[in-house]
Amino acid sequence: MTKSALIVGASRGLGYALAAEFLGRGWRVTATERTRSALHELAGLTVETVDIAVPEQVAALRERLAGASFDLLFVNAGTNYTTDPSATVADVSTEDFTRVMVTNALSPMRVVETLQDLVPATGTIGVMSSGQGSVADNTNGGFEVYRASKSALNQLMRSYAARHADDPRTLLLLAPGWVKTDLGGPGARLTVDESIPGVADTIEAWAGKGGLHYLDRQGQTVNW
Ligand SMILES: NC(=O)c1ccc[n+]([C@@H]2O[C@H](COP(=O)([O-])OP(=O)(O)OC[C@H]3O[C@@H](n4cnc5c(N)ncnc54)[C@H](OP(=O)(O)O)[C@@H]3O)[C@@H](O)[C@H]2O)c1
Repeated sequence: MTKSALIVGASRGLGYALAAEFLGRGWRVTATERTRSALHELAGLTVETVDIAVPEQVAALRERLAGASFDLLFVNAGTNYTTDPSATVADVSTEDFTRVMVTNALSPMRVVETLQDLVPATGTIGVMSSGQGSVADNTNGGFEVYRASKSALNQLMRSYAARHADDPRTLLLLAPGWVKTDLGGPGARLTVDESIPGVADTIEAWAGKGGLHYLDRQGQTVNW
């Protein structure tokens, strides 16, 4: 049977590439944008619109998708703060701190909470985390607010998993590596094409396993 995916935050970068990758693997893909994007150039893909930081838009998306079912719900959307990504928590403005936390931690979980019932018992709910979200591996510091937002996301997913201990669905937090995108910057180690096939392989390999897993693109467990 054809597998189906809903990828949230797919207008560009890793989300766009993940949508294209699953399309190429024969999946039926619905992908979301905030404003008109290159997604419309991908043949066979269904495009939806949502800003994950606006709860009314997330609720409206859920209503539009009534009756749909997805083997994979994957929330990719994320941000860095624009003024100075290297600012420490001592330097960052409250507005930047709040925006990063709301976009990277609160909003993905709101999407999960609002759309989770579109995923059947055999399905997977995934969120794009980052290796920078690992508390255990943070020995060098840097990107303090971004790191904290992904750690918060990981913690919230653990709470979600604890609250749904009997839920057979697979829950994934994915770390794609440091990738050349608008967010990752031109100095990143990997190209999108070096990251996304591994991310998709990992999602497919963990399908049906159940439980919550924090994994890199090679399917290796990341330290919490
Ligand atoms: N690149 C890396 O090295 C790296 C490493 C680890 C984790 N990640 C994570 O991977 C994910 C994708 O990052 P990327 O590198 O591909 O970044 P990107 O090129 O900047 O793309 C970010 C994507 O998120 C969407 N987005 C941001 N805020 C949104 C909102 N409020 N509602 C809906 N969509 C929103 C953007 O949509 P618009 O076009 O509308 O802005 C865009 O599609 C993020 O969660 C990021 O934290 C990236």
